[in-house]
Amino acid sequence: MKQLVEQRAEAPEALRRLYAPVRDELDNVEEILRDELRSDHPFVDRLVKHGFRLGGKRLRPALVLFSGKACGTLKPEHLKLAAAVEMIHTATLVHDDVLDEATLRRHLDTVNARWDNEASVLLGDYLFARAVRIVSSLDDPFASRAIGETAQTMCEGELRQVARRGDYDLAEEDYFDIIASKTAVLTACCCRLGSHYAGAGQDVCEAMARFGHHLGIAFQIADDLLDLLGDEATAGKSLGTDLLKQKATLPLIRLFSQASERDRAEVLAILSRSGNHRRDALRPWLEGSDAIDYARRKAWWYAQRAGEQLDALPPGEVCDVLRQLSEFVVTRRQ
Ligand code: IPE
Ligand code: IPE
Ligand code: MG
Ligand code: MG
Repeated sequence: MKQLVEQRAEAPEALRRLYAPVRDELDNVEEILRDELRSDHPFVDRLVKHGFRLGGKRLRPALVLFSGKACGTLKPEHLKLAAAVEMIHTATLVHDDVLDEATLRRHLDTVNARWDNEASVLLGDYLFARAVRIVSSLDDPFASRAIGETAQTMCEGELRQVARRGDYDLAEEDYFDIIASKTAVLTACCCRLGSHYAGAGQDVCEAMARFGHHLGIAFQIADDLLDLLGDEATAGKSLGTDLLKQKATLPLIRLFSQASERDRAEVLAILSRSGNHRRDALRPWLEGSDAIDYARRKAWWYAQRAGEQLDALPPGEVCDVLRQLSEFVVTRRQ
């Protein structure tokens, strides 16, 4: 137990340090989330609070705030939008855990494990509806359009991933397209909204959106590596579910593209095994190839491209933190 608590504390501590320049505003966002995420109906109230207990990394709200602060002054709109993107993100996680049959999320039972799939589907919808309500309270079509387009693209990404299940010959280009849709579009949206509401010009907003896009791609490649190699107690979520659901992630795509026909058949046999030993069985194959290294290098490449976009900003502490965040997403263990 002691070990579990220490592991849980580690990564948030690194982030807490990075988040220091927007600490007060992040606290305000937590207050908005606390105020919004309650219901007069006891069952709804319990479900909603469960999803937000222990928090998660709050990366997306932090991106809204840092992008805003890097370009000007933070306004009430930033706080509301930061809360809304975190709700949308959490809604997608609640739904994703149903798709992945996951049992652990943010160091707690998933909603589907503690309650059931029905409660999860409805809770995800509920969180999304609450997010839309906050965004519409800004009374600005810019935010509503950005959030609407982003949510649509995220759903398309998840659907395209389902459509390609079990296809380990997925072209890398298609893999990058899918993770851009399901993950990077939201981090890009956070940075676009943050800079826009701080009054940045079109060029800077575009550069910030590209920063968020590249960071999001690096984030998802790192996440896909964690699914294969990470430690559940540290990550606080079910791992190995990409294998369970036959998602072709970058390390596997690379492994298959480099393997002989005979090796491919052996790896395929491992992947179609029942039970939960696929990760262990796959490990020697991954280690005997360049798949892990290849995926890590790609993640770093995207982190670097993210960093380059920051040249559009005046240098300073906030800009440095954004750069460090793009590196954190690659090295993170949770
Ligand atoms: C997990 O996101 C979902 C992916 C897009 C891979 P996070 O790792 O940011 O989850 P929390 O918010 O910290 O729980
Ligand atoms: C989910 O990807 C991405 C979403 C946008 C929900 P994953 O399935 O890899 O996320 P985790 O690993 O369960 O957090
Ligand atoms: Mg998942
Ligand atoms: Mg994952």
